[in-house]
Amino acid sequence: MHSTVAELLSQNKPLAEIEIKGWVRTFRANRFIALNDGSTINNIQCVIDFENTDESILKRITTGAALHIKGALVESLGKGQSVEIQVTSLTILGDSDPEEYPIQPKKHSFEFLRENAHLRTRTNTFSAVMRLRSSLSFAIHKYFNENGFYYMHTPIITGSDAEGAGEMFRVSTLDAKNPPQDESGNIDYSQDFFGKETNLTVSGQLEAETYAMSLGKVYTFGPTFRAENSNTSRHLSEFWMVEPEVAFMDLAGNMDLAEAFTKSILSYVLEHNKDDLAFLEQRLVQEDKSKPQAERQEMTLTDKLRFVVDNNFKRVSYTEAIDILRNCKPNKKKKFKFLIDKWGADLQSEHERFLVEKHFKCPVILFDYPANIKAFYMRLNEDGKTVRAMDILFPGIGEIVGGSQREERLEVLKEKMAALNIPEEELWWYLDLRKYGTAIHSGFGLGFERLVMFVTGMSNIRDVIPYPRTPQNAEF
Ligand code: 4AD
Ligand code: MG
Repeated sequence: MHSTVAELLSQNKPLAEIEIKGWVRTFRANRFIALNDGSTINNIQCVIDFENTDESILKRITTGAALHIKGALVESLGKGQSVEIQVTSLTILGDSDPEEYPIQPKKHSFEFLRENAHLRTRTNTFSAVMRLRSSLSFAIHKYFNENGFYYMHTPIITGSDAEGAGEMFRVSTLDAKNPPQDESGNIDYSQDFFGKETNLTVSGQLEAETYAMSLGKVYTFGPTFRAENSNTSRHLSEFWMVEPEVAFMDLAGNMDLAEAFTKSILSYVLEHNKDDLAFLEQRLVQEDKSKPQAERQEMTLTDKLRFVVDNNFKRVSYTEAIDILRNCKPNKKKKFKFLIDKWGADLQSEHERFLVEKHFKCPVILFDYPANIKAFYMRLNEDGKTVRAMDILFPGIGEIVGGSQREERLEVLKEKMAALNIPEEELWWYLDLRKYGTAIHSGFGLGFERLVMFVTGMSNIRDVIPYPRTPQNAEF
């Protein structure tokens, strides 16, 4: 069995016989190979005895080639590494064409790497991002597992629009050119695969509620799909969402859970992904140097993560936030694209970012939003015009979490659905929860890619998911 680079680099004693497999990052002076196998951001230096190595082999050691190396792990005399491999045998497992290989040892733009997303994890930046993504997923499962939550798998194909925003991708096997029609000339979905109209889910929440109302504390973590045509650096058409749902928990409990949960997963990566974070932090420091002073980061990446872990999130009602925004400088000087003039306005990302980055300078939980800008299932407050909603806003990201206490009163829920033209037949099972042993319950959804953006400091959401799906783009 061969070792990984990570294993060898953490060795502090020489080893007479080791084997390693990986890809060449660089090869210099016909002697020094920097080999990487993905196990760590760091390469291991492999030193070959070029006088005794065939010229034809030397020529094939090019950036991107896959190698199998045998040799001895020895203390390194060179700078930058504590150990290196003295190569006794080298096999080329897979050649790489040095002229055509897209990932040359030089700086590539993220746009170029997106077009080569199948190879981009061979760069330091993307391998670090994807290792962190993996680590964050693990930390999420770990947190819930240690806190008494059950992991449930909510369906991907669904007949209901949880968010009621009508931004769904249809799932159908009907002949697109010639779909069957009913008597009134509408497409007859009763002849479709599932015998009804179905879509890809926008959220697992409604089904998660059914399990919360029997198993108590559950979460779902899976892909969700939105056919909204927003081509921004924070929106994907396919993204992953973490959605806990808890019985007998009110909105205050929901905020406590969301805060404890995010802090816990950030702490996990601060402790377990030091090398990758250090690399990404340096990347940002370098990137900052080319920016005007005003746009430079005030905190380094790890300081920013630590700041979130160590400080309380600021809890502010929507009404208070509107007051702040109405009277703030950018509003008065008409610097906002959307000016805030009265209560009831939906908040745009420019407002969210002002609150988080300029006003409070820390993560903010906004709660008690106007009912008519939020989804049908949120619990109506006594004032009759606001709902027990909460959004968590993060610096640089804006909304990272959206959640609420759910409407548990059958009559109130029915009225809300009627007002929004949501047919009761479609959600009969959801209404059943309010008929049989209803109880207050709450939950939230955390956009996983937005979390990965925050942790890695990447500024485009397309760079934190392996193969991004966005309007006009589903390559790979
Ligand atoms: O605020 P949203 O729409 O909430 C829900 O779907 C609720 N059903 C969740 C719940 O209560 N269980 O979405 C939740 C989060 C957002 O805060 C955001 O982080 C992320 O999902 N999100 C997106 N991420 C990437 N691309 C998109 N198009 C996103 N839309 C939402
Ligand atoms: Mg939201």
